[in-house]
Amino acid sequence: MAKTKIGVLISGRGSNLQALIEACAREDYPGEIALVICNKAGARGMDRAREAGLETLFIDHAQFGEDREAFEREVDAALRAAEVKLVCLAGFMRILSPWFVEQWRDRLINIHPSLLPAFRGVSTHERALDQGVSVHGCTVHYVRPEMDDGPIIGQAAVPVLPGDTPDALAERVLQAEHALYPACVRLILDGKGRVTAERVRGDAARAPDAAAILANPAA
Ligand code: GRF
Repeated sequence: MAKTKIGVLISGRGSNLQALIEACAREDYPGEIALVICNKAGARGMDRAREAGLETLFIDHAQFGEDREAFEREVDAALRAAEVKLVCLAGFMRILSPWFVEQWRDRLINIHPSLLPAFRGVSTHERALDQGVSVHGCTVHYVRPEMDDGPIIGQAAVPVLPGDTPDALAERVLQAEHALYPACVRLILDGKGRVTAERVRGDAARAPDAAAILANPAA
């Protein structure tokens, strides 16, 4: 089976990268990771990529100073040289300029640790607990210039349990992320994640893959 080439951009731990690595290792999975790019020295995710025998590239954004686009042009060129067709942001802690986002429009996706449009930005688990929500989760979406915005591809929900700390909730959401991200990538590579009028239109084929209510792991 011909696999579609994926690029993954990371800055840190790389547990979502790991979930994608494991998915791509399956023979029937439609994607393969052609390149992992990291902008932070010493990121654990780079070790994971190397252990999996993947092509890696470290591009230190600090080296470009204020010139955001110069950094992004390097990233863009490397992705193109690797013949990447879909770019996955997986804990990539750098806001991308409208220029980059336009280059990869509808081929650039992100995972965010909340049920968007709730809790855009950082500290999502703390804020979810502060707000007293009873359901929290994660979202995979196409990237737009506005942060944590863009057509939603899939979401997974988890319960907020009595006595949850931000860390405990983060861990539960992370487990959901690891299931959701590979499912959403598969959906896109299977041609079921197309954007029309700024929405990924849900249909019967999409729902079971990219929407999940995860059972209460403590129950
Ligand atoms: C995840 O929670 C993801 O949703 C967010 O950053 C975190 C990255 O974790 N965008 P990891 O590096 O994949 O372990």
